Amino acid sequence: MAPLRVLVTGAAGQIGYSIVIRIADGTVFGKDTPVHLVLLDIPQCANVLEGVVFELQDCALPTLHGVEAVTEEKAAFKDIDYAFLVGAMPRREGMERKDLLAANVRIFKSQGKALAEYAKPSTKVIVVGNPANTNAFIAAKYAAGKVPARNFSAMTRLDHNRALAQVALKAGVTVGDVKNVIIWGNHSSTQFPDARHAQVTKGGNSVDAYTAVGDDAFLQGDFISTVQKRGGVIIEKRKLSSAMSAAKAACDHIHDWHFGTQPGQHVSMAVPSDGSYGIPEGLIFSFPVTIDGNTKEWKIVQGLSLDDFAKQKIAVTTKELEEERDDALKACDESSI
Ligand code: NAI
Repeated sequence: MAPLRVLVTGAAGQIGYSIVIRIADGTVFGKDTPVHLVLLDIPQCANVLEGVVFELQDCALPTLHGVEAVTEEKAAFKDIDYAFLVGAMPRREGMERKDLLAANVRIFKSQGKALAEYAKPSTKVIVVGNPANTNAFIAAKYAAGKVPARNFSAMTRLDHNRALAQVALKAGVTVGDVKNVIIWGNHSSTQFPDARHAQVTKGGNSVDAYTAVGDDAFLQGDFISTVQKRGGVIIEKRKLSSAMSAAKAACDHIHDWHFGTQPGQHVSMAVPSDGSYGIPEGLIFSFPVTIDGNTKEWKIVQGLSLDDFAKQKIAVTTKELEEERDDALKACDESSI
């Protein structure tokens, strides 16, 4: 079997350091699938990248058939099967949100073009670098015509995993007993973590999360704000942003895209909207999705009922994403999609 070519950008960074081992050791694509890892970072990080390559070699992993460090997009994107787009411009002191967006738009515009020019048309992309949804939107736009938009996604799996953990803690079960939470919208503090359709296995029975938790005020209050603000709390405590949990979540996301979701389960993934739930078409919006492991195609879960509370929360995050999209398009010197 030819090894899967897997690109990780920002591979000299924090998340990069935690993510490469899981891709290389078979956690993501299975122990029977050989992997060739391509690690991209900026030229100033070439030495750090080389150190990561040496460490991966020293791990002596049977699934890792090759690993290379590159600092140019052409070499990075050539013939890849999967791309973990982690590298992004960090916010510097005094930087306005718009400046950060503009800096990242430039990176993801360029990487979208590189995907179109060098990658396989079947390449599947997860964007982790923030603002993840909008960066994915821009990359997809510039890869259009070569790599289909539905091959682009942004990561909200970390928020999803945080939501599973919070429900489990409150219901007094282990996290494996909770499924089908949903993150709607943007990977930002406007996201809507929703436990309305979640299920918990308790005492051998499957019950809905609201019954298992028995505290509606929590699920419509602290649960939501805890998940929304978790990233900020981690920075406050660690003085660094989430890396181990972010890397694990990115690996969960691609694992499920590659192998499919479990029967009766959905996961959260930011994907191009097809108009479901009234979300404007094309916006990269986090939805509940199921994935067919044979075709590797995701489908947005249809027909979930949304009460006024949910509708109002979804409207807020939709508005933010539309504004981000418009700012990003402006930054690309374009007035419309
Ligand atoms: P980091 O600053 O440790 O690493 C980022 C790396 O990207 C650096 O090595 C940098 O040199 C590289 N980089 C910058 N521009 C690049 C380019 N054009 N091409 C290739 N590499 C480039 O940051 P960390 O902690 O690894 O986080 C990475 C990104 O992930 C950040 O944008 C962060 O906000 C985001 N993030 C997203 C999460 C999500 O849930 N979607 C969760 C946690 C972090």
